[in-house]
Formats: sequence, structure tokens, C-alpha cells
Amino acid sequence: MNRLKQLVLLPILVLALYGIFYYVEKSSANQYSNTEVQNFIYKSSTIEPLEVPSDLDRRKAFLGRELFSDKRLSKGNQVSCHSCHSFEIGGADGRQFSVGVDGKLGIVNAPTVFNSAKNFKQFWNGREEDLFGQIDGPIHDPREMGTTWDEIVEKLKADQMMVLLFNEIFDAEISKDRIIGALVEFETALVTEDSPFDLFLKGDHDALTESQIAGFRKFETYGCVACHQGQNIGGNMFLSMGVAFNYFAERGGYFESDVGRFVVTGQEHDRHVFKVPSLRNVQLTAPYFHDGSEPSLENAVRKMARYQLGRKLPKEDIKDITEFLKSLTGKKPKILSEAYESVKK
Ligand code: HEC
Ligand code: HEC
Repeated sequence: MNRLKQLVLLPILVLALYGIFYYVEKSSANQYSNTEVQNFIYKSSTIEPLEVPSDLDRRKAFLGRELFSDKRLSKGNQVSCHSCHSFEIGGADGRQFSVGVDGKLGIVNAPTVFNSAKNFKQFWNGREEDLFGQIDGPIHDPREMGTTWDEIVEKLKADQMMVLLFNEIFDAEISKDRIIGALVEFETALVTEDSPFDLFLKGDHDALTESQIAGFRKFETYGCVACHQGQNIGGNMFLSMGVAFNYFAERGGYFESDVGRFVVTGQEHDRHVFKVPSLRNVQLTAPYFHDGSEPSLENAVRKMARYQLGRKLPKEDIKDITEFLKSLTGKKPKILSEAYESVKK
């Protein structure tokens, strides 16, 4: 009899232990458990409408607009900021990886410059605090503009028009800091106001379709809003890609840029951690994710549900959420169509 009990109990004990180990293993592998992510929702800040800051120096911003499309900011005058952040493609370039000087290919997907001034850090891994620090990146990167400030300043100083413009606006000569100042002022003006969703938030209940309203509710209740929130519906926290399942293993292999924030902090828990991207104008900025691997917005939503929330959503819900995301497409920033003359004095 005793022997029989042992025979039955032993496998049960082994199974129970295995279960506990499996659970502990899984929860320590994920930085945030699903319940933790779900709990975020209840204390999450709300989504707010976008607004252009009122204290912009408009003349500086206009000079920045000129410089943003000026190829002299690159080695051999090959590319400008606009080459990879096109106003026709939602402030991004529509490619998986950008093409820089001498046709060199980058290693991460180019994010949009629209509304980027409102992100709490710059770049996918958040290695720069603000737009001022950000600009040195593309200027020196051999895969982007591959040049130096000395070269740029020299080229611009040879241009009489530029000399006059800097004199008029800064009352001073061309310098690295003034070029950066003008570019940042311009980028700060690149706000895409009045998306249907913002109009809805401001009280226009006809601004959204029924499917979009349903999608917004689902975006909240499923917990997307735990990470994508604030004015930019993203851009205000870091999180790992693959909270619920291992995204990288399932995609197959690792790329250089997959390490994410680990390169900034050297902390193991920052491996595969990225700035949560803004979802504003996301309809225009395919392909998606830091690896630019997903061309379809619907599939990006499906993947988010799997990897960040551990869920398989019904088709209908994917469709509604995707429709909601499309309501985040705002108007083109005003500064792109205004004439310099109108703000000259
Ligand atoms: C060759 C393509 C290329 C050029 C040229 C380029 N960028 Fe970028 N830009 C990128 C890529 C790729 C990233 C993402 C890099 C990363 O996160 O590591 C990026 C990131 C950014 C970001 C960060 C956005 C965010 O939300 O994190 C800003 C802002 C930006 N670029 C502005 C500029 C400006 C200003 C210039 C011109 C001085 C410029 N870029 C030139 C490709 C380019
Ligand atoms: C746990 C935090 C978290 C949750 C929850 C979450 N996301 Fe994300 N989302 C991220 C991060 C981090 C990225 C960037 C991942 C990468 O590029 O590797 C991202 C990227 C995206 C992108 C791609 C954006 C781009 O420009 O490349 C979309 C679209 C998106 N999320 C939508 C959603 C939707 C819809 C939900 C809910 C079903 C959701 N997310 C839930 C953190 C989250």
C-alpha cells in the first residue's frame, strides 16, 4: 500500500516542483509581469491634444527649416535631414533602414521628427536627453551625414545668402551652436495638430467613426495605453520589446541595434529596452518597430498584443484598434507652408 502511495505521489511532487520553477523562471525573465502592465492603466496619465508651443522664435524656426533641407550639412552634399525625415512621409523615410552618405545603410528604423520635441528622450534607446544633443548624432555618423561642424560652417560661410540670414536673425556669424539652435527651433514647431482624435478629445464627438471610438476603448481596456500615453501617445517611458513573449527569438536571431538601452546604461535589465514610440501619425510611418520589420499597421497591432500583452486579439478588435490609430494622423505642421516674409519683422 505504502509503496503504491509513493508511486503516485512522486510524479505529482516532481510535476509541482517543475511548475514552480517554470513560473519563477518566467517571471524573472520578463521585466514586467502582465498584471504589472495592466495595473499601469489605472494610474496612467491621460492622452492630451497636441499644441504648438506659443513661445517659439519664428524667425529662427524658419532658418531651421532652410537648414533641415540643406545637403551641405553632409559629406559631399549628399543628404539632408529631410532625406530621412521627409515631410511627405510623416517625418520619416518609409524604409526599413535609412540610406546615408555614399549609399551606406543604417541599423535602425528612422523615427518621425514630427512632435519629437515632446518625447522625453531622443533616439530609440534614449541616449540623448533632448533635440540639442540629438543633432550631433546624424552629423557625425558615417552611415548618416558623415561630416564635421568645421566643414559645415566653412561651406555655409561661403554662401552670401546664409551669412546675411544668420546676421539678420542672430545678429551674429554662422556657428555650430547657432545652426543647432535654428534646427531645434524648427523641430519644436513640427507639431501635427488637430488629428480627428484630438478634435474628439476637445469635444467634437463626430470627429471619430464608431469603429475608431470602439478602437480607442479597446486600446485602453487591453492596456496599450499603459505604455502609449501622454501628449505623444508614447515617447514618455522605456519598456522592453517582448514583455510577454520573446520577440527576438521568434523573429529569429539578433541584430546590432536589438540591444536597445543596454548600450547606454550597461545594465542587464536594459537589454532590449526601447523608448516607447509615439503613435501619432503612425499610419504614415511604416515600416514599424526599431528593426523596421513590419510593413503593416494591423500586423504591428497584432504583434504588440502578443509580445507586450500576451494576448491573441479577435480580428474585429485588431481592426478597430488600427482604425483608432489612423485617427491619430494630424495636420501637417503650419510652419511647412508659411512664408518667411510673414514673420520677418
Ligand atoms: C541617413 C538618414 C538620416 C539623416 C540624414 C538624419 N537622420 Fe535623424 N534619424 C535617423 C535614424 C535612423 C534615427 C534613429 C536612430 C536611433 O534611434 O538610434 C534618427 C533619429 C532622429 C531623431 C530622434 C527622434 C526620436 O523620437 O527619437 C531626431 C529628432 C532626428 N533624427 C532629427 C534629425 C535631424 C535634425 C537631422 C539633420 C541634422 C537628421 N535627423 C538627419 C536617420 C537620419
Ligand atoms: C509594455 C509596453 C507596451 C504595451 C502594453 C504596448 N506597447 Fe506598443 N510599443 C511598445 C514598445 C517598447 C514599442 C517599440 C518596440 C520596438 O520597436 O522594438 C512599441 C511599438 C508599437 C508600435 C510601432 C510604432 C512604430 O512607430 O514603430 C505600434 C503601432 C504599437 N506599439 C501599438 C501598440 C498597441 C495597439 C498596443 C496594444 C495592443 C500596444 N502597442 C501595447 C510598448 C508597448
